[in-house]
Amino acid sequence: MKIKEILSQNKILPLATICSEGDARNIATKLIEAQCPILEITLRDERVRSILHIFQEYSGLTVGLGTIRSNEDIDLAINNKLAFGITPGFSPKLCGYAQSKDFLIIPGIQSASEIMQASEMGYSILKFFPAELSGGVERLHAYKSVFPDISFIPTGGITETNMGSYLKLSNVIATGSSSIISNDLIKNQHWDELTKRLDSIKNKNE
Ligand code: 3PG
Repeated sequence: MKIKEILSQNKILPLATICSEGDARNIATKLIEAQCPILEITLRDERVRSILHIFQEYSGLTVGLGTIRSNEDIDLAINNKLAFGITPGFSPKLCGYAQSKDFLIIPGIQSASEIMQASEMGYSILKFFPAELSGGVERLHAYKSVFPDISFIPTGGITETNMGSYLKLSNVIATGSSSIISNDLIKNQHWDELTKRLDSIKNKNE
């Protein structure tokens, strides 16, 4: 299935900063059980680099690597057979490298100029980051008539409370949020709480 279809069916993209193999396995299992088959792993902790291979064992899960900032990060995602990568901002250099490797990138943007540059490079799904600090729902609404061919994944400051207003926009394909698999939840190993949160976001998909 193509990423566009997966995101259309799973409108909430959980982000997680994972530091151990055990946490990776618990999170993967809970996501599959809850039928939330998509995950962005952030590159915010170096330990994650040696854990990524584990996700190859979970074929039901579509995993992407976030916070990509270098060609080496793209290679890391490719070597671990991850499905996609996300950059926090727009880098033509990184996008070009990813294209040369036939690797799917979702570039981050904030401004109309960045959207135009990303679109010129062939991208039609873009991360809008940091969403809440960059004009949020109103700004994305304003982009709708100017960029009708672009779908956004707003991320940054999005929680269960405000994700509904983003998901109502026709140019939002999905929202990203680190509040579902939060660092606190992982630290305290609250896996039952994760099940509850995943059930609750599933209702928002329906
Ligand atoms: C990201 O890495 O994409 C964002 O920092 C996530 O933002 P959030 O932590 O506010 O969800």
